[in-house]
Amino acid sequence: MAQDSKVKRIGVLTSGGDAPGMNAAIRSVVRAATFRGIECIGIRRGYNGLISGDFIQLNAESVAHIINRGGTMLYTARSEEFRTLEGQQKAAATCKLLGLDGIVAIGGDGSFRGLVELSKQGVSVVGVPATIDNDIVCTDYTIGYDTAANTAVEAIDRLRDTMQSHERCSVVEVMGRNAGHLALYVGLATGATAVLVPEKGVDFERDVIERIRAARLAGNTHFMIIVAEGAGSAIEIGKGIHEELGLDPRVTILGHIQRGGTPSARDRVMATRMGYHAVQALAEGKTNRVICAQQGKMVDIDILEGLSMKKTISEQQYEVLEAMTGIDS
Ligand code: F6P
Repeated sequence: MAQDSKVKRIGVLTSGGDAPGMNAAIRSVVRAATFRGIECIGIRRGYNGLISGDFIQLNAESVAHIINRGGTMLYTARSEEFRTLEGQQKAAATCKLLGLDGIVAIGGDGSFRGLVELSKQGVSVVGVPATIDNDIVCTDYTIGYDTAANTAVEAIDRLRDTMQSHERCSVVEVMGRNAGHLALYVGLATGATAVLVPEKGVDFERDVIERIRAARLAGNTHFMIIVAEGAGSAIEIGKGIHEELGLDPRVTILGHIQRGGTPSARDRVMATRMGYHAVQALAEGKTNRVICAQQGKMVDIDILEGLSMKKTISEQQYEVLEAMTGIDS
């Protein structure tokens, strides 16, 4: 057991939309804490649980056999009450009552903004990025992205079989909130006819109609259009294709299917590494930090600094997509 620091007891919670690999991150936080002689308390139902004092004792055994499980054993929520000063004060009071020397929150940017408010109430905080959207600016990777991408790819491969048999057009809506990272990645992996992402704006004629036309001229008789949810509605895109080209597209909204399932090896490993580094940061007396994967290494940076930039789509990936779909823009 590694001995260090004045940190004796910490809390861990999951917040916002769940992501495959959150359980692996919880396990890692608990085991890394135990390794250092730090006690770990699980806060259930995100910031709501911190406000109401909904907690469970965690130890190395209680997080056994969860590394391979989707979802989160601590439940999650988007807390309205925590947006208020009163809610934040109540949450800080719970930390004081339970004798928590720090909080690790596993979640997305909303969860991190929550941490910033909690730290203003005198609580030491560290964030672990977990969202299938991969839209957190300061980190190259967020837990859940790889699994969600593979789930979407598998679903789209299945759709392709039937679209090919019937020589149809498929329009598939992929999650991502306001970001197109997941859609672009999935589009590259599935050899899509076109991919619509919010970062590039959508010119229906150029980005959809012309691409289907180019694919047809190249000899294709089935077409796969991937739409990031932030770039528009797959239903509307489908209607537009029908009106302009006379095709009879089938629309699939993948939705929350993408958030569930067994985490991939990559998500388990990233979650385990990030959880470990979160505990290390708290043990070293740091606060207001977010754990980031940067060029293969784990680093911790100031949360506000981390959230202040805008994450853009990968231009290199987009350039490749343009070549694959055969049209210059
Ligand atoms: O942020 C993760 C995410 O799955 C987004 O991709 C999506 O827009 C949103 O959460 C859906 O949220 P909810 O689970 O509240 O419907």
